[in-house]
Amino acid sequence: MANRLKRTLGLFDAFAIGVGAIIGSGIFVVTGIAAGLAGPALLISLVIGAFISGFTALSFAELAHSIPKEGGGYEYARELISPFAGFISGWLWILSNVVTGVVVSLGFASYLALFIPFPVSVNLVAALACLVVTFINYLGARDSSLVNDILVIIKLLILAFFVVFGLGFVKAGNFSPFMPTGEIGIMQGATLIFFAYSGFARVTLISEEVKEPKKNIPRAIILALVVSTVVYMLVSFTAIGLVGYKELASSGSPLADAAQSVSANLTYFVSIGALVATFSVLLTTLLGLSRISFAMSSESDLPRLFSRLDKRSTPYYTVLVFGFTMAILATFSNLLQAIALANFGSLLYYLLANYAALKLEKRVYPRIIPVLGIITCMVLLVFLTWDAWIRGCIVLLAGCVYYYFMKKWQKNRVNAAGG
Ligand code: ALA
Repeated sequence: MANRLKRTLGLFDAFAIGVGAIIGSGIFVVTGIAAGLAGPALLISLVIGAFISGFTALSFAELAHSIPKEGGGYEYARELISPFAGFISGWLWILSNVVTGVVVSLGFASYLALFIPFPVSVNLVAALACLVVTFINYLGARDSSLVNDILVIIKLLILAFFVVFGLGFVKAGNFSPFMPTGEIGIMQGATLIFFAYSGFARVTLISEEVKEPKKNIPRAIILALVVSTVVYMLVSFTAIGLVGYKELASSGSPLADAAQSVSANLTYFVSIGALVATFSVLLTTLLGLSRISFAMSSESDLPRLFSRLDKRSTPYYTVLVFGFTMAILATFSNLLQAIALANFGSLLYYLLANYAALKLEKRVYPRIIPVLGIITCMVLLVFLTWDAWIRGCIVLLAGCVYYYFMKKWQKNRVNAAGG
């Protein structure tokens, strides 16, 4: 078959695609805004986010074990719920990840601005970053995954450096009062910081490129989530302890500000780490976008062009379409609104995946896991802004209209050919 993808990725590559997708703008940028909402109790918001992601991650692990096919939640919803549910799942994924790409490129740009001696437009730098990542992905999946492995190792080392050098300067006074905005603030913080965890299931989109997928994919998902949670807790504890939540909340590059209280060298390192982290998230976001649309196109849910591969097995058309879309959106998007919209898309996508996991007959984990996954995703959806709900529902409606006319057109073509 001409459109076959190659199995080239081992366990470490699969784990690195997870961490590459998870650790990015969330910890380097969104932590500041979430600290403003929850205070030092951001640490509790992080635990809540980890638990919610954990239930859904276990559902994905279970699904990946039963259906080790390219396409992630799209494929699971298609097979276990209905073809329409599958389409909606893929559509939501595309929405959430195009917007995630925008958020992450804005995070990248806000740290890059620290290195530029004259004022620059953060939106414009973000758009340029999207174009560079488009070019790298265009070169092919294997090249991107190798670059990703290296970037992931660098970003983990730099965050470890921040914690090791920062911990000694932590002041206990910065943790009091611990819950200045109460439980509501903690939940609002959790809704926002949930963004930092999204990406844990990214590897399920490329199951057909992973060696021994039944074994490696569930392991990679769980490992990536556990490592990211530990890193987030340590980094946030250190950052709050260094400068207090108010200073973090007032900064566009909060970890650089926290590092500044220790030394200029640490600020420099952390800023490099932020650039590497956000860049690697951007890289895997586009990698994932091209893969899900490849799967959707193979099932005739998107135009055929989206599953065309070049000589290096790259679905080049989708890489170009989504890369350019992100670049255009990055030129005018607002950070907070984009975070909320990305969360709207991913929470509904996770909800559908949990529902699909509930339908599996042969199970590894108890049924209560996807049930908790569904309930907790719903709770976070309730805390999202109206703004995100309205924009998200408009995109969802557009998807339904597209699906209706596309299926009608396909049916007419089959009838015409038959007649
Ligand atoms: N979890 C990803 C990030 O924080 C989207 O950048």
